Amino acid sequence: MKIYSTGKVIFAIFFLSFILPLAGQTKINDTQYPLIPYPTNIVDGIGAFNITEKSTIVSTGKRFDNEIEQLNLLLKQYLGKPLKRNDKVAGSKAIVFRYDPKITAPEGYKLNVTSDLIVLSASQSVGIFRGVETIRQLLPSVEKSNKIVPTLTIPALFISDQPAFEWRGMHLDVSRHFFSSDYLKKFIDLLALYKFNKLHLHLTDDQGWRIEIKKYPKLTEEGAWRTFNNQDSACLVRAKTNSDFIIDPKHIIEKDGKTLYGGFYTQEEMKSVVAYALARHIDIIPEIDMPGHMMAAITSYPFLTANGENKWGKYFTTPICPCKESTFEFAQDIFTEIMEIFPSKYIHIGGDEVDRRFWEQADSCKTLMGKLNIHTTGELQSYFINRMEKFFNSKGRKLIGWDEILEDGISSTAMVMYWRTWVPDAPVKAAKNGNKVVMSPGNPLYFDNDPDRNSLYEVYHFNPIPAKLSVAEAQGVIGAQGNIWSERIPTESRADYMIFPRITALAELLWTHKNNYNSYLHRLKMHYPRLDALNVSYRLPDIDGLIERNVFVNATVLNLPKPLPNLTLRYTTDGSLPERNSTVLAGPLEINKNSEIRVAAFSENGRRGDVNDLHYNQQTLAIPAQATSVADGLTCNFFLGEFKNVKSISGVAKSAATVHGVNVPKEFEAPSFGLKYRGFLNIPEDGIYSFYLNCDDGGILEIANREVIDNDGPHAPFEKTGQVALKKGLQLFALDFMEGGGGYTLKLRYSVNGSQPMEIPTSWFKY
Ligand code: ACM
Repeated sequence: MKIYSTGKVIFAIFFLSFILPLAGQTKINDTQYPLIPYPTNIVDGIGAFNITEKSTIVSTGKRFDNEIEQLNLLLKQYLGKPLKRNDKVAGSKAIVFRYDPKITAPEGYKLNVTSDLIVLSASQSVGIFRGVETIRQLLPSVEKSNKIVPTLTIPALFISDQPAFEWRGMHLDVSRHFFSSDYLKKFIDLLALYKFNKLHLHLTDDQGWRIEIKKYPKLTEEGAWRTFNNQDSACLVRAKTNSDFIIDPKHIIEKDGKTLYGGFYTQEEMKSVVAYALARHIDIIPEIDMPGHMMAAITSYPFLTANGENKWGKYFTTPICPCKESTFEFAQDIFTEIMEIFPSKYIHIGGDEVDRRFWEQADSCKTLMGKLNIHTTGELQSYFINRMEKFFNSKGRKLIGWDEILEDGISSTAMVMYWRTWVPDAPVKAAKNGNKVVMSPGNPLYFDNDPDRNSLYEVYHFNPIPAKLSVAEAQGVIGAQGNIWSERIPTESRADYMIFPRITALAELLWTHKNNYNSYLHRLKMHYPRLDALNVSYRLPDIDGLIERNVFVNATVLNLPKPLPNLTLRYTTDGSLPERNSTVLAGPLEINKNSEIRVAAFSENGRRGDVNDLHYNQQTLAIPAQATSVADGLTCNFFLGEFKNVKSISGVAKSAATVHGVNVPKEFEAPSFGLKYRGFLNIPEDGIYSFYLNCDDGGILEIANREVIDNDGPHAPFEKTGQVALKKGLQLFALDFMEGGGGYTLKLRYSVNGSQPMEIPTSWFKY
């Protein structure tokens, strides 16, 4: 047995790192390993490395002590005990953590696995840690399942890896509904698995103050507790069919004869969460949202508003008053304690959705505006944010705010977090102003929007760099994050469902940033067993080929593939919810009468996926319209106004255009409006046609005077599907769409004879 000196190890590692991977080995099939995000470069090796309890971890000095501990925490779950540490390779089976100053990319690392050694190199401990998580994904997916295995096999390969974006974040609102510190740790562990580096905690809002502040104890004594509100009621309606919506009893107490919902983190508890995150190279970014969204604080400290008022305006609550010194004292006291708990460079002040009309009438504001020669309450908001930024900077921290902080002028040193999809120029303006920008537009990065079968695609294909930026300006966009607002998320299992698997698409977007979507979908399937082992209540994969409103002429067959081999499809025909003991849909099911079928996938442990309601309706093939002379395109009428749904679009059209496809004409964009598309579809063959209508907000599609899809009402982008039986020829086409405030998503696709959904050829549209 050879005993290497450390110097020789370094030579050997150098050799292995640079010579072997190039020595005739082929580039691998990119679905071979279950790696998400996919590494920047990966080359296949020969053989495999076997980790056993006799393997050692080799590293000199203390530089990577924490990362060794992290790897050992993981390996212990498989091997029953941690590996011994050595400062040189004794025997040939070692995992070497090597300092390599030549790896300069922040978070970059190299991983070289041969049958004798695993060498993980980086110049910084964070790079080593990202590599540890790559090793984790190469290990069997049974972690935390208490199955002790004698040998863990890692395939020989060479990876050289670094992230595309510096800010790879997730956000969690713990105010509207509360999440335990154990859940935060579970989430942090999963963020680490997918190489995220920021967790943004929205700690305060109108509905609850969630972090202990010693100087203002009533913030949590009173502000952390509330009676049940309309958000809970909305959850309880959905709880009738989905237990994930039952308000988590962990956070309900009885006090003074009242039932209260809430909770908060003590400073000690939060410090332990911060330490847990830091060990996994994740910064926690605290957000204390002000000057709006402060109802929970104002209830206990009414001096914060201009006149002691604390109420709901049309949309938002009374903001704290930026014109009183006592407000600044309070805000600075709060952030001083926050900075003692959270070491992160960035601190978030919110700054969104401020109803500034409350300031217009206040004497304190009139006086200050006169004194500072400020003319608008927008400038007053800027005054507040700028002054707080100076305070943050005096403590060595940087300020982040939601994109509203841009509106009336900010310094170029604040960071802007973009969220308002309907203000597409906001991130452009910020980057051109020199601000750093993090992208989290509502569509597609608000993960509290109900997921559908397009969510993974939408997240994966999101481009964090706005098109209007030059290459130099785009440097200001340092990454993106997914946000979870918890108004409709009262449990940890519902949070898991909303986050997973969407988060994996975001992980690959931000780390790898190469379009490798089909490969990603394939690799994602290999992640579900690990998520099961980690007890994540992820959204089960969609059943392919489902249409909600089906039609048939004589008879049809429901034949659905299982999305994963270990899932079981079950269905009912009596309107009841499919349960674990409902009939299994094992093969083709013939349907020859009008029917309502409810079908869902079930995991091995009995978890139910989304329930799909399939309606079957017998139709004859619709006779085409008798149109004599038609032109290319559709007519599109534009109705200006705030409509609750498309059925309420009324009045006289403000303008009209001819369009050559279903999209929102640029010239018609306004915050709120309705559109009516009219004309014909020139159907090429008799058949049953399926349509897919994805819109934000509502839309209703009618073909041949038959309603095909009802996707009406205000909502985030969401796809609904329906069929219609059509004869060849010109068939009447009517599509109504309403926009309630800034989504602008409108997509219509079709399929026929079991094809994949496709764009409707422009030549089909006539009027
Ligand atoms: C936000 O969604 N109000 C930032």
